[in-house]
Amino acid sequence: MNILAIESSCDETSAAVLAGDEVRSNIVSSQFFHGRFGGVVPELASRAHLKAISAIVSEALSKAGIGMEEIAAVAVTNQPGLVGSLIVGTNFAKGLALRYGLPIVPVNHIDGHIYSGCLQDNSVKFPFVALVVSGGHTVIFLVESYNEYRVLGTTRDDAAGEAFDKVATLIGLDYPGGPLIDKFASDGNPKKYDFPRSMIHSGNYEFSFSGLKTAVKYFLAKEFPSGVPCEAIPDLCASVQSAIVDVLVSKTITAALEYKVEHIVVGGGVSANSALRSQIVAMAEKKRIKVILPAMGYCIDNAAMIGFVAQRKLSEADVYDFTDLSFRVNANTIRKKKRSELH
Ligand code: KG4
Ligand code: ZN
Repeated sequence: MNILAIESSCDETSAAVLAGDEVRSNIVSSQFFHGRFGGVVPELASRAHLKAISAIVSEALSKAGIGMEEIAAVAVTNQPGLVGSLIVGTNFAKGLALRYGLPIVPVNHIDGHIYSGCLQDNSVKFPFVALVVSGGHTVIFLVESYNEYRVLGTTRDDAAGEAFDKVATLIGLDYPGGPLIDKFASDGNPKKYDFPRSMIHSGNYEFSFSGLKTAVKYFLAKEFPSGVPCEAIPDLCASVQSAIVDVLVSKTITAALEYKVEHIVVGGGVSANSALRSQIVAMAEKKRIKVILPAMGYCIDNAAMIGFVAQRKLSEADVYDFTDLSFRVNANTIRKKKRSELH
């Protein structure tokens, strides 16, 4: 079945065409201009989606070599996300569904991230443990089937990606800081500075990253009162990255052992982090657990992962279950903050 999938929940406009599980095209247009505001500006994001979406969908169809008449269903992210951004994608998808008489499958963005690794490696076995780490979410799930999952733990304050971004801002790096911390960390010593691994021994799957930001803030004020010198940046980045990754890996492996799963999947923007990727694979290997990681192109928000989830939903239900055009968008919990709100 050919599916056209659309994703516009935050600051990426994306469209993909899937033939079964094969990704025939996955076009992603990132709104880099938000960097100068220190965070995603919702109103500008929705306007940019509106400008881009028609061309992105056309490009996805033409790259796949598939016309609208060969599409069997439309899939679209309807939650969570920025409301204005979600409205652009869902309304565009509804318009196509109406025009071509197609079923429309609303998909939860977090489900997309859970299965983003399966686009490359579909060997995942239920039940499995999923770590979803992005700018708005840090959640460990026990996934029992495509329709059933349990939240084992989530963050009490900042998400992991938010922690990367906030600390990067304190160090003086641009937004979003996660990829920059990762880059500088490759030349640094992760043991140079000892930052807190909050809740690592809490005995549950909850996280807290706001203390790390405060610890770094006071540390920088004391050690580098007149600003962080360039030569200190790699060690700082490596030490911060290690503090975040240690907690993520430790809790995810503990969950996998407690629930005796054979597989762990990781998804969300932070799953691009090189230390997280190597550390979780190394730790899991020792426990004979397989880790499924998304290809780098599927770590960021993308429509292919939305199409993958829609294929599952369509295969498990009647196509007539997806004729309702009145479904709503839901902002839910995604959080994106401006630089001025980061401290
Ligand atoms: O999933 P995503 O693209 O958007 C949200 O749904 O939030 O995640 C974006 C987050 C940002 O906080 C960004 O700094 C972080 O993912 N990120 C990284 C890396 N690449 C992106 N964090 C650490 N290391 C990276 N390589
Ligand atoms: Zn996301």
